[in-house]
Amino acid sequence: MEQDAVSLMKEAAGKAVVDKMVKCGMKLGLGTGSTAIHAIRRVGELLEQKTLYDICVFATSFQTEMECEKLNIPFYSLNSKELSSGLDLTIDGADEVDPNNHLIKGGGGALLIEKLAAYASTDYAIIIDESKLTDQLGGGFPVPLEVIPAARVQVIRALEKLGASVTLREALRKAGPVITEHGNIILDFRFNFLIDPPLMEADLNQIPGVVENGFFTRNPPIVFIARSDGTIETREH
Ligand code: 5RP
Repeated sequence: MEQDAVSLMKEAAGKAVVDKMVKCGMKLGLGTGSTAIHAIRRVGELLEQKTLYDICVFATSFQTEMECEKLNIPFYSLNSKELSSGLDLTIDGADEVDPNNHLIKGGGGALLIEKLAAYASTDYAIIIDESKLTDQLGGGFPVPLEVIPAARVQVIRALEKLGASVTLREALRKAGPVITEHGNIILDFRFNFLIDPPLMEADLNQIPGVVENGFFTRNPPIVFIARSDGTIETREH
């Protein structure tokens, strides 16, 4: 599909989720990436029109914070008195979504704080174009793991023992690995056999040196799916 068409689908999904789910007075988590940015822009637009007010935002990455700054959307730390009681709703994109609405996230390297927001939220909404739907997680998109640099080789060995093939995520326009906003590296891995995502999500974090993994299974979201025919389907599990 043409890139412009995909971008229009992402924009439609971003607008739909905000119009349907965001209410005045909410504590709102805002995700990261080329789809989530459309939801952020819609929030900015509604705040400017003053049809939306009293919103406290938690931004899940540097990219999201910068977009909020540009649009005059006030954002706070999750430790602040404004947000320490948790979030009402988080809106984010995803890399893959299975029939249980379990997710793989972390294509943009922001999985650690995206998971913090997802699990600190009462409601969770994911916006995707239909190309992100899959029957089995991990079949297409590799699963990211955020790992402390000192544990690189040991974590790779542990994953390989489980039967995974692993690559270190390399940076673009910088020599060496991607370094996350928290000073860590990212390992992307694949299994060539079927896995159980909730079990994997729990087990991977038991490997010493793993900070977080890209399976999101514990707060199944409502998923807004932008279809190529221009419709938006919502799917709850
Ligand atoms: C960033 C993410 C993104 O939400 C995910 O990679 C989807 O991004 P995009 O909407 O640009 O395809 O998890 O860490």
